[in-house]
Amino acid sequence: MTRKIQILDTTLRDGEQSPGASLNTREKLIVAKQLVRLGVDVIEAGFPFSSQGDFRSVEEIGHLVGDKAVVCAFARAKEEDIDRAAEALSTAKRPRIHTGVGVSSEHLRYKLRLTEDECVERAAACVRYAKRLVEDVEFYAEDAGRADLGLLLRVVQAAVDAGATVINIPDTTGFCLPEEYGARIAAIMDGVRGIEDVTVAVHTHDDLGMATALALAGVRNGATQVECAINGMGERAGSAALEEVVTAIHMHGDALDAHTNVHLRELMRTSRLVSRVTGMNVQANKAVVGANAFAHSSGIHQDAVLKERTTYEIIDPAEVGAVGSEIILSARSGHAALRHRLSELGYTFADDEFEEIYQRFLEIAEQKKEVYDEDLESMVQEHSREVDAVYTLNALQIQCGDPLVPTAVATITDELGERHVVSATGTGPVDAAYKAIDNVVMIHGDLEEYAVKAITRGIDAIGEVVVRVRAADGMVYTGRGSDNDVIVASAKAYVNALNRTITTQRSQENA
Ligand code: KIV
Ligand code: ZN
Repeated sequence: MTRKIQILDTTLRDGEQSPGASLNTREKLIVAKQLVRLGVDVIEAGFPFSSQGDFRSVEEIGHLVGDKAVVCAFARAKEEDIDRAAEALSTAKRPRIHTGVGVSSEHLRYKLRLTEDECVERAAACVRYAKRLVEDVEFYAEDAGRADLGLLLRVVQAAVDAGATVINIPDTTGFCLPEEYGARIAAIMDGVRGIEDVTVAVHTHDDLGMATALALAGVRNGATQVECAINGMGERAGSAALEEVVTAIHMHGDALDAHTNVHLRELMRTSRLVSRVTGMNVQANKAVVGANAFAHSSGIHQDAVLKERTTYEIIDPAEVGAVGSEIILSARSGHAALRHRLSELGYTFADDEFEEIYQRFLEIAEQKKEVYDEDLESMVQEHSREVDAVYTLNALQIQCGDPLVPTAVATITDELGERHVVSATGTGPVDAAYKAIDNVVMIHGDLEEYAVKAITRGIDAIGEVVVRVRAADGMVYTGRGSDNDVIVASAKAYVNALNRTITTQRSQENA
């Protein structure tokens, strides 16, 4: 039997640090639920000290996940961070605190202003402190990829002696070559007393496009936990992509002496869901989950694949869930059929909420002959965006054409229930709609990116719009909206981005 590799998913912590990808608690719960279905071992659910929203998300994810996975909360090596993490984890059946300190000379000198001895002491102290609050304490040695190896070994030894259960060796800046990083893991496996009793984790970033290769080099040299994120989300260029890591381990299990418990068939759906809720599109040529990952274009390839799929495909698309479901609902489908299909997709609702979903389903089904899984996923996520809305777009009327002046009339309800009917003209229909919305939501944001795509097949496909808006605080907020009408989808996406701006700013004020 090969070694079991634990998969720590950090989509909701490191992944959410991708610019513009912040999620509300409800969206995080949807992702966490899917991560459980995917079979990850550990869910890093957030950084409770950073905001009230993160605190609440960790608390609710702990509640939701029960004993199906370890729920981990991030904390810097500060008592107030660690206290807050432990508090948020009070609902978790299997809580873990992830704390640590920077160890490279860049971090010690410029960020932390610590000597090497102080760094070793701080490592031991944060683990000891966290250990008083929970049993399972993961220690990270930030920027270990660039650290002096002697210091790294001392810091890791101190953390192990203080009782850490997991030692995380991040290549925070994605700097290493895979062999170099693997050699660091080997040096730790050889040079730290008691390391055989703890789990060694790899946490890698993609700054040089090698995050997955780095993670696998770590596994080859003794690591038994990989930290990764769906679609490779994460700071800057992102993290090791979970779908790549687990598929590579699946295909090269013997060579790596490794296996995971991840259900590969859930990969595609998880990728789609995360892309949709975060607003981060997956590039078409992305390994395993990209739209072109199993597409063959040239005549030579097509001919060969038709003769024998394995000539150009090393992965069976069905194995990673890349083959669509045949279940298609229509306006004739009743409550039971919709409820059944939604639960297969991982969504369950209380009766009153389900009724709202069903009514929306009927609206879509009346406009489209067939409602596909992608429509259902979009509809449910649209619903989750509405629940936390400060402003809700109730109606939008547009007049445009040549030679008309594009004019929008929008009806918007605020959180106090007051309805506002506003109008504006613009250079085009979307511009007019956004100007009308700005007349009610007084926190105008600059539109940095606007993208529209069809989620499903055919001329009656639901259109999805993703916008990135830069608010006055300099932060970028992503908004998404979907509708059969792309102008309405555009307006919903803009309102969604403004709602996110307001709720994030409020939660920071309350933190
Ligand atoms: O990349 C990193 O070093 C991290 C940690 C702080 C664990 O995300
Ligand atoms: Zn990271």
